[in-house]
Amino acid sequence: MPAIVVLGAQWGDEGKGKATDLLGADRAGVIDYCVRYQGGNNAGHTIVVAGEKFATHLLPSGVLTPGCTPVIGNGVVMDARVLFEEIDGLEARGVDASRLLVSANAHLITSYHTAIDKVTERFLGKNQIGTTGRGIGPAYADKINRIGVRVADVFDEGILAAKVEAALEVKNHLLVKVYNRRAISAEEILEEIAEYAERLEPMVVDSSLVLNQALDEGQTVLFEGAQATMLDVDHGTYPFVTSSNPIAGGVGPGAGIGPTRLDRIIGVVKAYTTRVGAGPFPTELHDDDGEQLRQVGAEFGTTTGRPRRCGWYDAVIARYAARVNGLTEFFLTKLDVLGAWEEIPVCVAYEIDGRRHDEMPMTQTEFHHAQPVYELLPGWRSDISGCRSFEELPANAQAYVRRLEELSGAPFWGIGVGPGREESIRLR
Ligand code: GDP
Ligand code: IMO
Ligand code: MG
Repeated sequence: MPAIVVLGAQWGDEGKGKATDLLGADRAGVIDYCVRYQGGNNAGHTIVVAGEKFATHLLPSGVLTPGCTPVIGNGVVMDARVLFEEIDGLEARGVDASRLLVSANAHLITSYHTAIDKVTERFLGKNQIGTTGRGIGPAYADKINRIGVRVADVFDEGILAAKVEAALEVKNHLLVKVYNRRAISAEEILEEIAEYAERLEPMVVDSSLVLNQALDEGQTVLFEGAQATMLDVDHGTYPFVTSSNPIAGGVGPGAGIGPTRLDRIIGVVKAYTTRVGAGPFPTELHDDDGEQLRQVGAEFGTTTGRPRRCGWYDAVIARYAARVNGLTEFFLTKLDVLGAWEEIPVCVAYEIDGRRHDEMPMTQTEFHHAQPVYELLPGWRSDISGCRSFEELPANAQAYVRRLEELSGAPFWGIGVGPGREESIRLR
């Protein structure tokens, strides 16, 4: 029966890959499909199995789960060259990605999208978003402008050429006349696509049909979000967001699943907060504590290697994520990183222009002015990475988890105490 969603409850890099992998390990042979429903290779999900580290960007993390079929849903924007590099890299390490299915309606990222992503960022100057430069925004813009190229188009020569030409028409005026770059010819894009077309063809399916049939048959389908709630184009810190809907509601348009089918919606949340790229971040630390979180938590981007901005846990954001996703539970990661502090501040509300806000403020301007209201919780000053049950955790770590759970608006399903699959505690 179950359709399970695993998604980011903060600004990304919460440990979604680990949570997905853990669900797969817990239900060995029981997660039948693992589906990406939005985003593209802007994601970077790290999974550590038996001390060996894997990173996925475009493939869902379930590619590492034995018996699980990975699916790239229609809501994804796909750079197929990156996809095959990723598959080759994993297969060279003994991971079988041969079951991969790709939606016929997923949109392609081509080299004109990455070129435009980089050049528009440069032109934004101090208003830069700090994108990953993977062509995500321009590919979604084409989709909405109805000049995108979809996977199915690759196999219809006439339509493909017409669509690529249409997509390049305005872009070349922009590239040459505004951005002072060289024009991109339809031929070079068609050659780029021809290089992978044959390899792609056998993977292409009507993924909505496949997944709905699987659910009808009682199979388990896990939808793995990339990015996160606060990077959602509608519900995140716009304009400092990605160009898709990582929230649970995004599963509908991104995978062709009706909203009544979702059974569990798990928000992954770090025991503190990080963010990559520009945009407001009320609990951000610019001091030694921030540096210590970055070093101990190894907070450097999986995709771009950029140092992540670090700060304390923000329960206002957790409550917001619980609300806009309809979370049934949270998975709390990286509790082990907090082992060095005497006292740990947790943001319980904001003060904005002299007024207390217990919920996310309505406007971007207010959010930019938000000052965290902190509650200080006692630290546990010890290494908890060997703990495998809640009872083994030091009393102060237990109290920290329980207080976060009270503040965050949904029960905690599990806790991460290290990057490894086994470094986890199940609460229910
Ligand atoms: P994702 O994008 O949400 O999948 O997260 P990333 O993989 O980008 O970043 C999370 C990082 O934290 C990865 O390096 C994980 O291996 C690591 N990680 C996940 N859970 C834990 C945990 O509980 N403790 C520690 N120390 N590291 C963790
Ligand atoms: P995972 O799945 C963290 C951020 C970028 C930038 C903004 C827009 O690993 O959690 P984009 O390239 O999407 O147009 O960039 O979103 N961003 C992420 N931050 N984790 C991610 O993915 C991210 N994907 C995009 O840094 O601020
Ligand atoms: Mg990541």
